[in-house]
Amino acid sequence: MAGFVFSDKPITIDHGEGVYLVSDRGKKYLDLGASYACTPTGHCHPQVVEAVTEQAEKLLYVQGSYPVAARNELHEKLGALGPGDVSNVWLCNSGTEANEAALKFARSATGGTKIVATKRAFHGRTMGTLSATWKPKYRKPFEPLLEDVEFVTYGDSEELAEAIDDETAAFIAEPIQGEGGIHPAPEGYLETAREITEETGTALIFDEIQTGVGRTGDLWACEGYGVTPDILTSAKGIASGLPLGATLCADWIAEEAGPHGSTFSGNPVVCAAANATLEVIVDEDLPGQAAEIGSYIREELEASDLPIRGVRGKGLMIGIGVKRANRALRDLALEHQVLALPAGRTVLRLLPPLTLEREHADEALEALHAVLAPEVEAEAE
Ligand SMILES: Cc1ncc(COP(=O)(O)O)c(C=O)c1O
Repeated sequence: MAGFVFSDKPITIDHGEGVYLVSDRGKKYLDLGASYACTPTGHCHPQVVEAVTEQAEKLLYVQGSYPVAARNELHEKLGALGPGDVSNVWLCNSGTEANEAALKFARSATGGTKIVATKRAFHGRTMGTLSATWKPKYRKPFEPLLEDVEFVTYGDSEELAEAIDDETAAFIAEPIQGEGGIHPAPEGYLETAREITEETGTALIFDEIQTGVGRTGDLWACEGYGVTPDILTSAKGIASGLPLGATLCADWIAEEAGPHGSTFSGNPVVCAAANATLEVIVDEDLPGQAAEIGSYIREELEASDLPIRGVRGKGLMIGIGVKRANRALRDLALEHQVLALPAGRTVLRLLPPLTLEREHADEALEALHAVLAPEVEAEAE
């Protein structure tokens, strides 16, 4: 298991300040990955820190069968913020658990077994979610996985119509594929998925673990597409970095969800962090900020003469096609103190905190120019 991002020159992080991480040597790094998209409100947002501290002093844990104010509040908040009638909330501790629950609930509610997933998808690493994850590198060592899973080409409505039938429990997809390289759903694809799943009684699951809580310019990416799923999963940034996953379900799923549980489901400290996170996201209109700053970054990159192979994404979920992502990441970090993420070998992935402002975006663009421009010269030689 790798311990460091840059193994030849590891950076040890001491603390976080908004959109920056600070190393033990006092060097400030612009965190354009929001640490795997987990800090939409920035590092250590004071409102989140205060809520966590207050809750920690009162009660660290109580079993899930005893109601507790922080958890009740989160159920209510998420229920109200869920798209359409997707307002029944199951809480857990990670993205993979949220998706695992979604797949279980879909099977239980529909009585079907088959799961349709998309090529390039990433849904997690438990045996169930790994079965719906595409990359052979993640799957191979653990096979055999769930049998009844079929992969379809992301964006191909005809293939989807052929794959889904009355026996299909669920179609699971990311509205914008993240790990797979930042691929937004093509126009009409999610609408078609909604129509087909409605006709066959299949549960439509949107995995919004990377796209959710404001990142794409809407609170949930599916709202931007105008399509409401039966199940929506969230995790990563929902509690500003504390471990929380949520599976939001429509009534017909919740009524037949079947027995499911987890000891740490709805831990009060984590719920307090999520309550504060959601308040900050809504009150500070972070989805609006993500839309504005995201457009600015994409437009600047598109208008530049950098040797990039396209810019994809929405809001502050941006993929930049480059020759060698790992080399660019290393140079960004070590020479310019800017941290980003890869999505495969040739895509630089930006998932910054949604609190990113214009001056931070300019700092990022300057670093990207410095790192990517030499490739033009190298190619011209
Ligand atoms: C779209 C998507 N689904 C699921 C997961 C799994 O989440 P976790 O790592 O919290 O289990 C991820 C993580 O990267 C993800 O991006």
